[in-house]
Amino acid sequence: MSSEQLLHQIRLNGTIPRHVAIIMDGNGRWARERGRPREFGHRAGMTSVRAAVEAAGDAGVEVLTLFAFSSENWQRPQGEVSALMALLELYVRRERKELKEKGIEVRAVGDLHRLGPRTRAAIQSIVDHTRGGPKMRLNLAISYGARDEIVTAARRLAERVREGTLMPGEIDEELFAEQLYFADVPDPDLLIRTSGEMRISNFMLWQLAYTEMYVSPVLWPDFGREHLFRAILDFQQRERRFGRVLAS
Ligand code: IPE
Ligand code: IPE
Ligand code: MG
Repeated sequence: MSSEQLLHQIRLNGTIPRHVAIIMDGNGRWARERGRPREFGHRAGMTSVRAAVEAAGDAGVEVLTLFAFSSENWQRPQGEVSALMALLELYVRRERKELKEKGIEVRAVGDLHRLGPRTRAAIQSIVDHTRGGPKMRLNLAISYGARDEIVTAARRLAERVREGTLMPGEIDEELFAEQLYFADVPDPDLLIRTSGEMRISNFMLWQLAYTEMYVSPVLWPDFGREHLFRAILDFQQRERRFGRVLAS
C-alpha cells in the first residue's frame, strides 16, 4: 500500500491519536552500517524529522513530541554532542519559515540552561516565530530527562509549602501534572520508538502511564511517512482499557 492509501485507511478508521511521541533512535547504527561516523546518521535523521512532522500533521495529530536529546546524552563524546547541537541549530533555522506557514507551533521542553547561548537563541527564535500556530503543536524534547522533570516539579511544590501558600494535602495528581513540561497538552496516546529498542530511556515517565507503545525495527534515518502511518494504523487496532473492564 502506498503511504497515501495508508493515510486514507487511517481516516476511514477514524480514531486519530491526539498526541504522538517518538523516541528517534538508531542514527548511530545507521551510520555504522555504512562505515560512516555517527554524525552522518544524525544528519540523515533530520530528513526523517521533516517527514514525521509533515505526516503527523497530515494525519490530524494535534501534538507531536520528538525526543531529540536526552539529559544523559550530554555524556556522549564532546564531538558528537557538538555535532548534535549544530544540527539542531541548522534544523530550527532551516524549518522556521515552513513550520510557521504550515501553522505548526514549536515548543522546546527540557533543561535548556545546559545548552550553549547560540543554540538556545536559535531555539527561542523558532518558538517565538511559530507561536500560536493552529494546526499542530511540535514539542522538541532537548536536554530532557523525565526524572529531572519530576524532581523539579516536586521542588516547586515544596517551595510553595514552605512559603505557606500550599498544604501538603492539597497536592494531587492534577496539581502535580501542572508543574510538568507537558501541562497544557493531553498525555501521549501513542509512543513510537525506532531501532527496535524496548525501553523508555527516561522519557515522559509520568505522561506515558497509559500510552500505547509501538516499537519499530526501522532505524530512525530510514523511518518515513509510511512508517508513521503504519504505527497509527496499528494503534487504531488496539483496545485501550485504562485498568477497567470494557462493557461487552
Ligand atoms: C538517536 O540515535 C539520536 C540521539 C540519541 C541523539 P543514536 O545516536 O542513539 O543512535 P544509536 O542508538 O547509537 O544507533
Ligand atoms: C534515547 O535514545 C534518547 C533520544 C532518542 C534522544 P538513547 O540512544 O540515548 O537511549 P539508550 O542509551 O539506548 O537507552
Ligand atoms: Mg540510541
